[in-house]
Amino acid sequence: MKLNVNSAQQMQDLGRVIAQTAQAHDLLLLNGDLGAGKTTLTQGIGRALGIKRPVKSPTFTIVREYPEARLPLYHMDFYRLEDDDLSSIDLNAYLAEPGMVVIEWPEVVQEQLPETFLEITIKRVDDSWDSTKRIVEFDAKGARNKKWSKSILQSLN
Ligand SMILES: Nc1ncnc2c1ncn2[C@@H]1O[C@H](COP(=O)(O)OP(=O)(O)OP(=O)(O)O)[C@@H](O)[C@H]1O
Ligand SMILES: [Mg+2]
Repeated sequence: MKLNVNSAQQMQDLGRVIAQTAQAHDLLLLNGDLGAGKTTLTQGIGRALGIKRPVKSPTFTIVREYPEARLPLYHMDFYRLEDDDLSSIDLNAYLAEPGMVVIEWPEVVQEQLPETFLEITIKRVDDSWDSTKRIVEFDAKGARNKKWSKSILQSLN
């Protein structure tokens, strides 16, 4: 499934709908180049979950935890992950928590991922660096995630 997202605001709106339809133990993978809009999407999720403090890029911290959210949010960014950091993050422990896990740059931890997740890929449409147009692709693995992506798209219409 593909979706046109034409501004940062629209990306945050998509995040809101994702948050409204999310359930405990949901795993969302976010693919896309630097500056595609992965963190912007997560900010929309965080706001809709009732997080008052700014949702910042966890690039240097790897994981940021927001236990105060309506559905606790665990936001991870594996872009700068070194091999020895990998063992310090227990992804399964986060997935066992009754919250949602959002991962930027998930390919780095590919081998540790469960079989089911919702994967989103954000692509730029135009070559110009300042274009705000994106295409967002959804790829759902497993029954729950197929249902989740359907309800996201339904809620957007
Ligand atoms: N349609 C759009 N969707 C999302 N962000 C957009 C869009 N148009 C413009 N932007 C801007 O692009 C930037 C996206 O930055 P963001 O940090 O979300 O990217 P990222 O994918 O998380 O990058 P990184 O890989 O470095 O973590 C923001 O400044 C945002 O305002
Ligand atoms: Mg980011």
